[in-house]
Amino acid sequence: MNYDELVQKAIEMTKMSYVPYSHFHVGAALLDKNGKIWTGCNIENATYGATNCAERTAIFKAVSEGVRDFEAIAIVGGPEGADGSPVLEEFCPPCGICRQVLSEFCSKDFKIILANKKGEQKLFTLAELLPESFSLK
Ligand code: THU
Repeated sequence: MNYDELVQKAIEMTKMSYVPYSHFHVGAALLDKNGKIWTGCNIENATYGATNCAERTAIFKAVSEGVRDFEAIAIVGGPEGADGSPVLEEFCPPCGICRQVLSEFCSKDFKIILANKKGEQKLFTLAELLPESFSLK
């Protein structure tokens, strides 16, 4: 499957990031099983701890609209450059909390696409990024 559109949406979302503290922009685009794309950006907070990651913004938007079946997520992120726009040269893997939140709704073969602006992509399954994950099921 071609994830270029998903990656493009994730890149666009880095412009929406609210990052006055870290100046690190993250964008995510989550594909549900009906083909709809849910986007997210990171939203920081003065308490730091109340910050929400881009991946969780996307998944919470979808779940709060009744969608719980997902196929894939594209994630991009990087620091602000001199002109204030994000430099998206390196891959930006999801943090541990986001991996755990994804595992609540996504199967082991859910796809996680890391991308950069050079056009490179790295594909993982959720099981690869969160092996032996905790579950009550
Ligand atoms: N961040 C994300 O949005 N997703 C992650 O998976 C890792 C970190 C954000 C949180 C914070 O706004 C900034 O990146 C620096 O940690």
